[in-house]
Amino acid sequence: PGPGWTVQADAVVVGSGIAGLTAALELRTRVPRVLLVTKDTLASGSTVWAQGGIAAALDPSDSAEAHLQDTLDAGAGLCDPRAVEVLVTEGPARVRELVARGAVFDTAPDGRISLTREGGHHADRIAHAGGDATGAEISRALVAQIEAVRDDPGIEVIEHALVLDVLTGPPGPDGRPGAACGVTLHVIGEGQRDGVGAALGRAVVLATGGIGQVFRSSTNPAQATGDGIAAALRAGAVLGDVEFVQFHPTVLWLGSGMKGQLTLVSEAVRGEGALLLDTDGVRFMPDVHPMAELAPRDVVAHAIVRRLAETGSDHVWLDTRHLGAEFLRKRFPTIHERLAASGIDMATELIPVAPAQHYHSGGVVADLVGRTSVTGLYAVGEVACSGVHGANRLASNSLLEGLVFATRAARHIAARVADGSLPQVEPVPRPGPEALVAAASRARVQRIASDGPGVLRSGDGLRAALVRLDAVPTDAHSRHDDGRMLAVPQVAEWETTNIHQVATALTYAALLREESRGGHARTDFPLRDDAWRLRLDLSLTPDGCL
Ligand code: SIN
Repeated sequence: PGPGWTVQADAVVVGSGIAGLTAALELRTRVPRVLLVTKDTLASGSTVWAQGGIAAALDPSDSAEAHLQDTLDAGAGLCDPRAVEVLVTEGPARVRELVARGAVFDTAPDGRISLTREGGHHADRIAHAGGDATGAEISRALVAQIEAVRDDPGIEVIEHALVLDVLTGPPGPDGRPGAACGVTLHVIGEGQRDGVGAALGRAVVLATGGIGQVFRSSTNPAQATGDGIAAALRAGAVLGDVEFVQFHPTVLWLGSGMKGQLTLVSEAVRGEGALLLDTDGVRFMPDVHPMAELAPRDVVAHAIVRRLAETGSDHVWLDTRHLGAEFLRKRFPTIHERLAASGIDMATELIPVAPAQHYHSGGVVADLVGRTSVTGLYAVGEVACSGVHGANRLASNSLLEGLVFATRAARHIAARVADGSLPQVEPVPRPGPEALVAAASRARVQRIASDGPGVLRSGDGLRAALVRLDAVPTDAHSRHDDGRMLAVPQVAEWETTNIHQVATALTYAALLREESRGGHARTDFPLRDDAWRLRLDLSLTPDGCL
């Protein structure tokens, strides 16, 4: 069915993590009308779960060049150095603007922002808030800014709005996708904007976050179902680096039944001196990498997985006991409390941890101002492949990326709205995906993704995963479980369809890349191969194939 309502804006921002909130706030003072839509409430999504912090060369003894080098090293040869340069040089000013917007970071006795260290960094450059609740503080400050202007006619916020598809204008004569001119939304419980509607705009900014729910277990919240990346793919956008999935090394592991959103034990805990031990009590990271427990995240995650295979265990230990009860409670209040809720006292007991999905380094290919390959469609934050992460994101660069590139995208859009070079395009009717995947298939897709493009991959495993994904039925749009016709597909079907599309794209890319690099480890191609020092781009053919 067609949209039941339509709302018009100059820019439509989708998502309310650090990237979406920043884009909306920047646009609000620069274009006549902004629409901010978010899948749950303004304060939900991945940003609020970020523990460790936000990286920026804020200390006089540090430098943008040093931050650039650490980012390039972690990215394993695949970062775009121009994008990284933008990130590290503009980052400190953006963090100071965040402070001006009300975010309160932890400070040292001299009043300066306290900085800690995480994996892959050669300097203390991670600013944190509330000890280990950095994302929650940033979200609180930015949401408060949005709430303060909510009555302003220049901005409208729609919560509980799942983006279904990107609306586009007529395709070009060369077959290029038409310009983006809005999104279709499925809204639940928001009064006059309830049900399926259309939000039209001259520019659409996707800031929809990550893909954690593609996997059986992840540190990501329930909202991270890859909606933006799947919608961009369907609209004709090019995806890049999708095979590079980051698995966080230290996620609380309480047994093989663990699934859904799991408890993160921040890398900052290792930054403060925590050690990794195998189940025989042996510290193993010094033999793996000169930075030991603070090696880049992919190195630590892969070392743990190898250790698990060698010891036949399903977890290793994180040892924080030597750091002292008072320090741990003060420095890591959130983690301390979450572990205590699971019956673990981190001051006196070892913490069982294992790697779980944490971050998607790839996404919708975007340039230095967030433009994707579809005119008028921008992507910022985790949904984007901006080139700053390459094959593996450096710890705490994600909040910074959202901040820096959302600001750039918003300012670029505002300039184009002002000079009239972003006209409102008339959308052509889109059929949407030909078929949707039943919500009941979600666990099946998650199992396939975890078995196939998981921490360690193989050609056989990836080929088997593609066959299994292809066998997942895609007819949920037409039927209830009891066989009756569905009038309107429900949110759960769209989410499961997005999960399925993302799982397929990333399995396909992982099969193509016959080497190991960063967040992509192939047991059948265990070495890095410079013939593969390139970004793998994916898009849909006119008949819907990758
Ligand atoms: C963490 O706190 O370990 C996560 C930080 C990040 O993902 O950058």
